[in-house]
Amino acid sequence: MQKAHVRNLEFCCAFNNKEEAIFLDDMIDLFMGMNGGHVGKYCYDGSNWDAVIENSTNYYVPRADNELVLQASAEIRDFIPQQTPYVDFGVGGAVAFKHHVLPIINRLNSPLYVGVDFCERALDSIASIQKDEDQGFAVQTVQMDFFAPNSRILTSTPSLGVMNGLTVTNKYGTLRDVNVASDFARDLDQLCRLTNFGWLLLTIDTNQDETSLRDAYETPMTSRLYLNVFHRMANTLPVNDFDPSLFVYEPEWHPELHLFAHMAKATEAQSFSLGSHHFSVKKGEKIHLLNSYKFSKDFFDSCSSKAGLRVQKIWHHETPMKLYMLAGKNADRIIQ
Ligand SMILES: C[S@@+](CC[C@H](N)C(=O)[O-])C[C@H]1O[C@@H](n2cnc3c(N)ncnc32)[C@H](O)[C@@H]1O
Repeated sequence: MQKAHVRNLEFCCAFNNKEEAIFLDDMIDLFMGMNGGHVGKYCYDGSNWDAVIENSTNYYVPRADNELVLQASAEIRDFIPQQTPYVDFGVGGAVAFKHHVLPIINRLNSPLYVGVDFCERALDSIASIQKDEDQGFAVQTVQMDFFAPNSRILTSTPSLGVMNGLTVTNKYGTLRDVNVASDFARDLDQLCRLTNFGWLLLTIDTNQDETSLRDAYETPMTSRLYLNVFHRMANTLPVNDFDPSLFVYEPEWHPELHLFAHMAKATEAQSFSLGSHHFSVKKGEKIHLLNSYKFSKDFFDSCSSKAGLRVQKIWHHETPMKLYMLAGKNADRIIQ
């Protein structure tokens, strides 16, 4: 089957940026069933994540993130040399920047902050913070998909790559995957390469309890965040007769894949066109939007070592969340 982007050349020219051309490809692959779990990056708009982290109650992730970052900021100098550049994978927005970036970057007196995100508006929100008030370090922004295959290196010296908000667990993967461990080791290696094989500081959620996972995620705020991809599709892509409101959020727990899959279920049947394609969605049909992998500590440790990363420190929390400090091959050269 020809890759979607070749089929939709006649639409690409209508897009005002590459981001939307890729968006069309990804949504066609989704409705064709050629891929799943890969459209999470389209849920964010530079402010909706800030709303989640400021107003969440059941969803324990933001509180745990804040408290784990404060724990780590008190000890970070024991692991990372001063002046180490800071790479923020998935910036989220201004609130996340203040809560998660500033405590660490100020302790390291980093001369450089690199914000990496697929969402241009999220990057703009960080750039405007710098414009309003000099933060005391240089700010660079990179618009890219950090889970898509690439061989980029973002800093000339080994840097500290940080992923809060459980972003590393939003990695790509379908419900048909058979090799989650080697896929994840590959993703970790690619992220570490982007830091010039420096350090990774990552939050994960080891929660294996379906009931508490549903309590945390099945909230109006998170369902609105995830279903936003359909509203974005209706507002920005060449569609006809598509009603984005005819879906509800209905996640699935797949313990054999360590996966809490964020699924949308069609509440009514509908037929619509997307680009040059025509699709019919049946009532009750489920669509796999994105992932939150819930790796146990042992599984995460084994994937890290498969990726050639050394666990330097783990900060624990009353919730099942953990903050890992991992060292890459160039980091070890510096600290030895
Ligand atoms: C859950 S938020 C985390 C934000 C923040 N780091 C925090 O501390 O809360 C995820 C961020 O990652 C970005 N993102 C998600 N998937 C991405 C991908 N594949 N490539 C690049 N950015 C991505 C989103 O646009 C969003 O800004």
